[in-house]
Amino acid sequence: MSEQPEILFTRDEIRETVARIAREIDADYRDTRPLLVGILQGSFVFLADLIRQLEIPVEVDFVRLSSYGSGMKSSRKVKTIQGLEKQIEGRDILVVEDIVDTGLTLWRFMHDLRKRNPASVRLCALIDKTARREADVAINYTGFRIDDEFVVGYGIDCNEQFRNLPDICHVKEIPE
Ligand code: IMP
Repeated sequence: MSEQPEILFTRDEIRETVARIAREIDADYRDTRPLLVGILQGSFVFLADLIRQLEIPVEVDFVRLSSYGSGMKSSRKVKTIQGLEKQIEGRDILVVEDIVDTGLTLWRFMHDLRKRNPASVRLCALIDKTARREADVAINYTGFRIDDEFVVGYGIDCNEQFRNLPDICHVKEIPE
């Protein structure tokens, strides 16, 4: 029997946080129409809620990167499995990620994005685990800051489990 996750942030706290981030983005992108790039799979619930709180017009695209494989440890190798479909050059790009942990996954991706001549690139992350950072990745919009703990729910999984939990929870052991 695997351990039941404990709630860290409730659905109400998440809703308020997403609304606060949306107001910040609305204010910063008033005169433009940014392309929001969601990093699959973990960001899909966050991105879906975020765009519905935004008042500015936006476009959406997704990429799929692999770094974790399975379990709770990063494999340290970053691979793009599914790339961007939309034109990047001259666009304002806002990357939307579930969690920035070591930062290794995003560092490589942001680096590659900047080479494609966008007008700007910013990063929005629901969860920031600053204590574990290894790569220099600047987060422009942050939802929650947490210590070194493993979280699930609200689209975030552990071995494909718990994505459907409506709250953000933490787990101590990898579920079977
Ligand atoms: P990084 O390259 O170490 O920053 O890893 C970032 C990615 O690892 C995130 O997009 C998540 O997919 C995954 N990840 C990091 N921490 C957690 C966690 O606590 N729960 C679930 N996935 C995590």
